[in-house]
Amino acid sequence: MGHERFHYRNLEEIKEKARELGVHIPFSQNTELLTKEVSFGNVTLKNRLGIAPLEGADGLADGSPSELTLRRYLRYARGGSGMIWIEAIALAPEARCGTKQMMLTKDNLDNFKAFTAAIREAGMQANGFAPYLVIQAHHSGRYSAPGGKAAPLIAYRHPVLDKGMDIDDSCIVTDDYLKKVEEEFAEFALLAKEAGFDAVDVKCCHGYLLTELTSAYERPGMYGGSFENRTRLLRNSVQAAKVHETKDFMVTVRIGIYDGLAWPYGFGVKEGGDSTPDMDEPIRLVRSLYEDYGVSMVNLTVGNPCVYKHMNRPYDMGAYIPDEHPLEGMARISACIGAVKKAVPEMFISASAPSYLRQYAGFYTAGAIEEGLLDQMLFGRMAYANPGFANQIAENGMIDPAKTCVACGSCETLIGGGKPTGCVVRDGEVYLPYFKELKK
Ligand SMILES: Cc1cc2nc3c(=O)[nH]c(=O)nc-3n(C[C@H](O)[C@H](O)[C@H](O)COP(=O)(O)O)c2cc1C
Repeated sequence: MGHERFHYRNLEEIKEKARELGVHIPFSQNTELLTKEVSFGNVTLKNRLGIAPLEGADGLADGSPSELTLRRYLRYARGGSGMIWIEAIALAPEARCGTKQMMLTKDNLDNFKAFTAAIREAGMQANGFAPYLVIQAHHSGRYSAPGGKAAPLIAYRHPVLDKGMDIDDSCIVTDDYLKKVEEEFAEFALLAKEAGFDAVDVKCCHGYLLTELTSAYERPGMYGGSFENRTRLLRNSVQAAKVHETKDFMVTVRIGIYDGLAWPYGFGVKEGGDSTPDMDEPIRLVRSLYEDYGVSMVNLTVGNPCVYKHMNRPYDMGAYIPDEHPLEGMARISACIGAVKKAVPEMFISASAPSYLRQYAGFYTAGAIEEGLLDQMLFGRMAYANPGFANQIAENGMIDPAKTCVACGSCETLIGGGKPTGCVVRDGEVYLPYFKELKK
């Protein structure tokens, strides 16, 4: 079953469609609150708008950012967002998902220092402030492909995710290996601090190694089974990274709170139940990160984009068209994130996935904040297409309809094909040639 393409001429038409589908999408009539400063812990952000982590597949062989990487981030910095959550950066050679994924090492530290300095400078020059810079520490897990060849490192044999992959029991990582990963997060945090980032993200989302462990109900040993064991790698890695925390350098986590898979193969579902979201365990995890580990901000997301893209980022066109309408997907995302925020209101919650709503994404973000579902929104595909969305909201109250993302999936095609990734539609001079190479 397909669904109609986005054709709404105003907010009222979107609300009408949501009513027809029987789902709730929060909307505010104005976006003023998005452009005001907001604080949590030791951090003050210039506004509540940020850039979501977005891989570019344009890093150099040694893991450093390239000229094209820098171009992307300078555009983001000039666009006026208060925060840039920098993309997945591998924490070890075997954790890399390809030869063009960035990796932070002692040897390329100076290149990352120059990178953060240039991004700050661009923000200062364009807007009079430097965006808050978070770096995402990444382990590709089952999607590891160092040297460009798949070399999966999995938490357990997964009947859904193993399909179509060349996987056997030898791909299951040992507890000793996971202990080593905890130390690597600490080393990464120290390097990230030295490189000039404001925060490090112990990434635990989207089907990669840390996320997969959250559903390792049947894995034996200290990283599987109970809630404590399934979240051990995340919690220990946070603790290890926190050794390097200061008032100017923070540890945070991007958490996948729902995988879209039934128990015992997905997180954020009921024990013994189907794939209906159940936020009990995600709430427990976020509360523990706040109370026991002193984490003051987390970034919540859903879905495994390597398998169920539509759950992570509702779209119009893509590799497959799901049964559900994109507005149903939007409603699921905000309901899951909102349930966590309501249960742990002290935690500052970054959310994402507004881009399907195009120029109306700001009204959605403001509505969700007013309803107490989240505190800040990170824009993904919109940022590739229209890095100036934050300044447009500040200046005109809404995103420029002529510049908005159209949720066409071309950025997905580029990243899936290992090509430098950006917006084929709005930044075609740079990215259309790469897209054409894939279509040959
Ligand atoms: C091409 C592409 C690359 C992405 N790379 C990352 C990444 O490196 N790390 C991450 O956590 N999420 C990544 N995401 C997910 C986005 O951060 C975001 O959650 C998602 O696109 C939904 O937001 P949107 O609706 O605003 O696009 C990526 C998404 C896309 C489309």
